[in-house]
Amino acid sequence: MPRAIIAPSVLASDFGQLTAECQRMIKNGAEWLHMDVMDGHFVPNITMGAPILTCVKKGIPDIFMDCHMMVSEPEKVCYSSGCAHNDISETLQWVDDIADAGGALYCFHYEATSNPLALIDQIHARNMRAGVAISPDTPSNAISDEIGAAADMLLVMTVYPGRGGQKFLERCVPKVAELRERFPDKDIEVDGGVGPKTIDVCAEAGSNVIVAGTAIFSAQNPEEVISVLKSTVNT
Ligand code: DX5
Ligand code: ZN
Repeated sequence: MPRAIIAPSVLASDFGQLTAECQRMIKNGAEWLHMDVMDGHFVPNITMGAPILTCVKKGIPDIFMDCHMMVSEPEKVCYSSGCAHNDISETLQWVDDIADAGGALYCFHYEATSNPLALIDQIHARNMRAGVAISPDTPSNAISDEIGAAADMLLVMTVYPGRGGQKFLERCVPKVAELRERFPDKDIEVDGGVGPKTIDVCAEAGSNVIVAGTAIFSAQNPEEVISVLKSTVNT
């Protein structure tokens, strides 16, 4: 199994101090930062887009931004009004916007697109890693052998996408085990309600990239939580 990576979800951070919050997490042992991009369409909430990611990247040039794209048509137009592009007549692509902002990994939802393979190519063409996320009601076999082989990471959501602080859905965990069996060397991420109380089943099923928002940001000692999550996956 690939090595353990802990990715704190900044959705649970103080957005007013976003760069400092990311820096704090890196100091506490996080290797990746999980950036939840929501468009108010694929999910009801709106969080952040390329303009904010650009600022974070400027403050921390070597940050690894794991961009979780909860957006409709992630292969198409960016609806964000704050896009870096000046000419509104040009087609604003989400992939280009996130790549320009310094995203390292572009993880889109399987449910949001009709041609995942073409989108993976589009992401790779911009030198980002490609991730494919499945929501709680999407079965693991939606990830075909071709998609699994082309993607760099598979994300099994353990809550319905849309907001932080929700209860972990243990019924999603068997999908992690199914995907781990089919793709032994792939990064497999879990996201939603994950923390020291729920990490055991995730690790046992074979996930190695662990997203945690509330559990890390609300902790007295985030370093200890990150270390517990990491050592549980590694054992
Ligand atoms: C939910 C987001 C998650 C969320 C995780 O839509 O994709 O990344 O922020 O937060 P917690 O760990 O609090 O469930
Ligand atoms: Zn997320």
